[in-house]
Amino acid sequence: MPPPDKSPARIAAMFEAIAARYDFLNHFLSAGLDRRWRARTVRELQLAPGARVVDLCTGTGDLAIATARAAERTRVVGVDFAGAMLRLAAGKVRQTGLAGAIALVRGDAAAIPVRSGWADAATIAFGIRNVNQPERAFGELARVLKPGARLAILEFGEPTAPGLRALYKWYFRAVLPRVGRLVSKHESAYSYLPASVGAFPSPVEFAAFIARNGFTDVRSVPMSLGIVYLYIARKC
Ligand SMILES: C[S@@+](CC[C@H](N)C(=O)[O-])C[C@H]1O[C@@H](n2cnc3c(N)ncnc32)[C@H](O)[C@@H]1O
Repeated sequence: MPPPDKSPARIAAMFEAIAARYDFLNHFLSAGLDRRWRARTVRELQLAPGARVVDLCTGTGDLAIATARAAERTRVVGVDFAGAMLRLAAGKVRQTGLAGAIALVRGDAAAIPVRSGWADAATIAFGIRNVNQPERAFGELARVLKPGARLAILEFGEPTAPGLRALYKWYFRAVLPRVGRLVSKHESAYSYLPASVGAFPSPVEFAAFIARNGFTDVRSVPMSLGIVYLYIARKC
């Protein structure tokens, strides 16, 4: 299979188009597990009151919101290049009364609109897989994070247990794209999802990538039997 096209214009257009159904499909297709994955991600950050956090590929803002609630006076900058996703995030931020804690900025992960050394932590949930030039995004993360700051990345994996792996592949490649297409009315977004997960490095390879790109103490934690991995690291 050819590698999925990750040109920023294509990816942004895809998320612009599916934004309205994104949250529903997220919760439905993961049977609500996505909330647990984000909660664990936030716990791993061990934020102190007043912490400053960058959430790259913030989308509709769920992780930014969970992070802002984690400790008093936390400030989060959520960055995403899809305006429709950010508009939904802005509505949720207002509804949850977190407008003073979360700033949403339209921008690219390869040029983070935050000054150097500003952040105590950074997060990316289900976003790095879509980034065309991950090395540039990591260069930017290393720039904006303070030395020793934590990085937490959530990304899909594939279960390792043989029976479960086969079942999961069937769900991910046959069921999920059909349901996604039906609900989102987008031809390819939910076929791109399994294709991009299939093309993503293995947990061992991705942990090594993180370690090569400015971070240390890298851990990869499988969650929900390996459907998702949480990568945790500290900036060198
Ligand atoms: C699968 S969604 C994840 C959203 C959110 N983090 C979540 O967990 O629900 C991926 C998001 O990453 C954004 N994105 C992908 N590549 C990006 C890039 N290079 N710069 C900024 N945003 C990007 C997309 O617009 C989309 O909103």
